[in-house]
Amino acid sequence: MNVIDAIRTKRDAKELTAPQIDWVIAAYTEGKIADEQMSALAMAILLNGMTRREIARWTAAMIDSGERMDFTTLTRPTADKHSTGGVGDKITLPLAPLVAACGAAVPQLSGRGLGHTGGTLDKLESIPGWRALLSNEEMLGVLDSTGAVICAAGDGLAPADKKLYALRDVTGTVESIPLIASSIMSKKIAEGTGSLVLDVKAGSGAFMKTVEDARELASTMVELGNDHGVRTVALLTDMDTPLGRTAGNALEVRESVEVLAGGGPADVVELTLALAREMLDAAGISDADPAKALADGSAMDVWRRMIAAQGGDPDAELPRSREQHVVTAPASGVLTRLDAYDVGVAAWRLGAGRARKEDPVQAAAGIELHAKPGDRVTAGEPLLTLHTDTPERFEESVEALADAYDIRTPDEASVSYTPRPIILDRIS
Ligand code: URA
Repeated sequence: MNVIDAIRTKRDAKELTAPQIDWVIAAYTEGKIADEQMSALAMAILLNGMTRREIARWTAAMIDSGERMDFTTLTRPTADKHSTGGVGDKITLPLAPLVAACGAAVPQLSGRGLGHTGGTLDKLESIPGWRALLSNEEMLGVLDSTGAVICAAGDGLAPADKKLYALRDVTGTVESIPLIASSIMSKKIAEGTGSLVLDVKAGSGAFMKTVEDARELASTMVELGNDHGVRTVALLTDMDTPLGRTAGNALEVRESVEVLAGGGPADVVELTLALAREMLDAAGISDADPAKALADGSAMDVWRRMIAAQGGDPDAELPRSREQHVVTAPASGVLTRLDAYDVGVAAWRLGAGRARKEDPVQAAAGIELHAKPGDRVTAGEPLLTLHTDTPERFEESVEALADAYDIRTPDEASVSYTPRPIILDRIS
C-alpha cells in the first residue's frame, strides 16, 4: 500500500477501499506516514468529503488503533452524552450526577477547551483538589461507587484520533463532517458505553454554524453509533447565544451547582432535563423522573460523592477573580442578540480559554451575562461583568464584544425578534 495513492484518490474525489483505509490509519498510528502526507489527505477529505461507507470504515479503523473499555461488570446500564461544544456549555456537570441519581451509570470522558469553546475538565479543575486524570481502574471504581465519573480519556483510547486531531488542529482541517463524526464516534464507541446521546450544537458559537450542517453531522454520528451497537440519538440545540448566564470555568461550576440545588437559569435546566430524559430512555430506564431528582437533592448527593471520589472538596470556596469590569447597556430596550462566538472569544481573552493545548487557563476568568436575548435592559445598567486575574486583558476582551449584542426598542423588537428554541430537532 502507498499513501500517495490514497492522497491522489481523495484529491480526485474517488472512494478509498476498505483495505486502503485500514492501512492508512494503522500506518499513521505507527509513525509510518509523515504528518505532511496525512495533512494532505485530511485536506483532500475536507474538500471532497467521504461516502458513508468510507466514514464507517475510517471510524472502525480508528477504534481498532487502541484499546476498548469494558463496563460489563457494572450492574447498571451505561449512558453517555457528548456535546459538540459551545459557549457556556456546562451541561455535563449537572447532567452526569442527575442521570446517575436516576439509575444509570454515566462514564463521561471529557475534554479541555480550545479556542472560544470551554472544556468540561477545565471547569471541574477549578474545584480545589479535583483530579481529571484517572487510571482505568480508578475510573471504574468511581463509576461503580457513585454512578458517575467525569475524567480525561486515557492515552490508549483511539490513539489514531489523538494524533490526527492534533494534526487537523494546526492544518485547518478540523471543520470536516466526516472527520469530526469519525473522531468523536471512535472515542465514544471505544469507551464502551451502551447508549449515547449527542448534543449537536448549531449557531455562531458552534463548529456547525447552520442547522443543515448540524443535522448532517448528527445523522452521520447516529448511524455510526447504531451500526456499532451503541443506541445513539441526537438533539440539535441552539448555540447562537451562550447557554446560561456564565461563560468561564469556576463561574460555570457555581452555576451548575445552582442547577443541582434546584435553581439555575431556565435554559440550562431545560436542556439538562431534556438530555437526561433521552439518556434514561436510551438506557432503557423508564420509571425515573429527573425533575424530581433535581428537586429532592438526590442529584446533588451524587455530585458531592463524585467530586469527593476524584479528590475534590465539594464544600470548598471556588476561586474568585481579582479584577472585574462591568459593560453597561448603551441604550434602553430589548436585548435581541447576544452572540455566542463573540462572548466565547471575549472570555478566552480574559484567560478562561487557551490558544494551544499546553496553555494554562485561569480558573476565575470569564463573563457573567446579566441579560439574555428577549430581556428588557436599561441604559447604564450592567449588561456583562468581565472577570480576570490579569486586568491588562480587559481591553482586548471589550474589543471582542464590540459587535456582540443588539438592543432594539420594544416596537422594533416585536417585529424583528423571534426567540429561537433551545432544542431545534431530534435525530434518531
Ligand atoms: N471534537 C472531537 O473530538 N473531534 C473533532 O474532530 C471535533 C471535535
